[in-house]
Amino acid sequence: THSSSLPQKDCTTITPPYAQLLQNLKEVKKFVNRPLTLAEKILYSHVHEPERTLIGKGNIRGEYLQLRPERVAMQDASAQMALLQFMSAGLPSCAVPTSIHCDHLIQAVDGAESDLKRSIVSNQEVFDFLESAARKYGIEFWRPGSGIIHQIVLENYAAPGMLMLGTDSHTPNAGGLGMIAIGVGGADAVDAMTGTPWELKAPHIVGIKLTGQLNGWSTTKDLILHIAGKLTVRGGTGRILEYFGPGVYDQSCTGLATVANMGAEVGATASTFPYTPNMRSYLEATGRSQVARAADAAHSEGFLSADEGAEYDEVIEINLSELEPTISGPFTPDFATPLSKFGETVGNNGWKDEISASLIGSCTNSSYEDMTRVADLAQQAKSAGLVVKTPFLCTPGSEQIRATMERDSITKSLEDVGATVLANACGPCIGQWKRKDIEGENAILTSFNRNFRSRNDGNKSTMNFLASPTIVTAMAFSGKLSFNPMSDSIPLPSGDSFKFSAPQGDELPVGGFAAGDPSLYPSSSPKPQPDTVIAIRPDSQRLEVLEPFDSQFNDSNPRGLELPALKVLMRVRGKCTTDHISAAGPWLKYKGHLSNISENLLITAVNDEGGDTNVAFDHDHDTQETKSDTIPNIAKRFKARNQPWALIVDDNYGEGSAREHAALQPRFYGCALIVSRSFARIHETNLKKQGILPLWFVNKDDYSRVGSGDTIETIGLGDVFKNSSSPILLRVTKGNGESFNIPTKHTMSEDQLKWLRAGSALNYIRSQL
Ligand code: F3S
Repeated sequence: THSSSLPQKDCTTITPPYAQLLQNLKEVKKFVNRPLTLAEKILYSHVHEPERTLIGKGNIRGEYLQLRPERVAMQDASAQMALLQFMSAGLPSCAVPTSIHCDHLIQAVDGAESDLKRSIVSNQEVFDFLESAARKYGIEFWRPGSGIIHQIVLENYAAPGMLMLGTDSHTPNAGGLGMIAIGVGGADAVDAMTGTPWELKAPHIVGIKLTGQLNGWSTTKDLILHIAGKLTVRGGTGRILEYFGPGVYDQSCTGLATVANMGAEVGATASTFPYTPNMRSYLEATGRSQVARAADAAHSEGFLSADEGAEYDEVIEINLSELEPTISGPFTPDFATPLSKFGETVGNNGWKDEISASLIGSCTNSSYEDMTRVADLAQQAKSAGLVVKTPFLCTPGSEQIRATMERDSITKSLEDVGATVLANACGPCIGQWKRKDIEGENAILTSFNRNFRSRNDGNKSTMNFLASPTIVTAMAFSGKLSFNPMSDSIPLPSGDSFKFSAPQGDELPVGGFAAGDPSLYPSSSPKPQPDTVIAIRPDSQRLEVLEPFDSQFNDSNPRGLELPALKVLMRVRGKCTTDHISAAGPWLKYKGHLSNISENLLITAVNDEGGDTNVAFDHDHDTQETKSDTIPNIAKRFKARNQPWALIVDDNYGEGSAREHAALQPRFYGCALIVSRSFARIHETNLKKQGILPLWFVNKDDYSRVGSGDTIETIGLGDVFKNSSSPILLRVTKGNGESFNIPTKHTMSEDQLKWLRAGSALNYIRSQL
């Protein structure tokens, strides 16, 4: 047990309701009577109304589950639209404990203090909005500088056996504490915040058995880089990675969090581990002894590990004793090279043998263990008279880590050899790095998690390699990509040479964690303050109150419970991801302003009539010159004319990230129907939430029979409201008056039909108040 200088936390809202979860699991076992994996136990114990969902289902992997997560965490960029949507539901507070973390909007320029000050000024209105909404609804608000969402969640909220949603792709980091944490879009977070059951297709479960022991330079970062190399960036899609075996128990809780964090790089829904004594020590060291005791009790009842004989969809075995430090990249985390071969790889690819910057920390690798190991290397180098040969930037994951590093002289050890400590925020990891020193091709080495092109400094030619913080640090002293700190020496001016010993570190601070600046932290379980005015300036260009969408089935619709007659805006050709529907990049600053961001609607989608990008036609316009225009402009014309419209789309429409803007924007301009060859499931659900009807062609060839300017009327939707399995036909009328019917199918559940009828899921929730 480690003594803690942190006060014990009030654990009432952060201890999972184990008795209830165990009871739920008992219910589920009536339907699913076989040994369960840990991931199944966690998911199934959070199923909403198990009797209704599970009757008659012996195997529920692959089925859609209705789940009740216990908590939501949001970062400052994605929280904006999530909160705007939540506001429009009209509820007085969140249905589950929720937190907001100001981390993504802090730009790294020259060091923590000035960067923080500057970023607070340039994002003031966003922070003010987030803070006012947090106050009104009783959300915990973590100020700029308090730290990175995933590190804060691990230090404060994560608990074994819990189910959490977070509006960020590395939310699975919390799996390091033996729970399931899933990265989602804002609309999903709003489900949990409004108490609506959240839907997940029960993932397949890959068992990863760890045997042997890590030694010397190898760390859990090398484990996950190795796994990424094996599984590739798509290998975990629709799967949960569940680790088991003796090798799990030797790892620190924070080391496991690194593995869970980067499960996102192979596309995994989440990663999890059985409850270990190290998790217990971490809970105690972070002021949560009460959670540890409750977890001990739940563990003794068999909740926090897999049942004997549980079956995985696939098992991968990794012997940690054979694992080498690994370097991944450039440009993809699955191009993994063992350190001993990396020099050769550099030569074979003709890469310039030079590192231009070294970056450590981030949400992935800034634990006390990581930082003490890195400080050990810095001290070894310092005693040989060495300083780093590259810029060396360190991002602490939280104020608690930063303060503990400072108290234990870790910061001094790093600064002594030339490090710059950045603010406790995402900074260079998310491209918030105002890099001034380099243009053109160059190579950086980071201990971050993601290395897509341009990710860190916005420069397409920066080759970005991922490695453990210790490898990044040691290589910074050589400045060469081909340097292997395990075997190579660095020449000294004296003529001698210096070779590193394997780094040593401490899993947890012997003197406990230092709390840091308390003014950055929220009070625990804040009460909602309903009188708070939400801070949105009427002339703001970044934030806009979300007006509820009108129902299509209002009094002015002559067709009653059928959709009003719709105009087809365009037929989209081929791949159309959520990024095609709502582009990222410079548009990100408008995430909280639906009118402004809607100017990017479908601007990179291809119109099947003509093959052009961002061109659509307005057949009802009276002058030939203005018949064609950009897609957002045509959509705006339809909106101005009160002309509801439809889109015809190709296969797997809406694949990619769960960006709710891709459903909000067409709806904002008046889209009422999207007919596809097939939908990506998450986007299809997002469309339903915003009140757009998604229909599937029964015959995929009918796609080409409908084009821009055609009129579509639904036939049979009124019957679907009474009986959801009733069919829907589309009556298509061409410009020349010719008309024909097209059969379609739909996936609307009874609840989802209520959303459609009300105009959106949030309208429906509001109508029930
Ligand atoms: Fe932030 Fe990078 Fe993590 S952007 S949340 S530090 S992945």
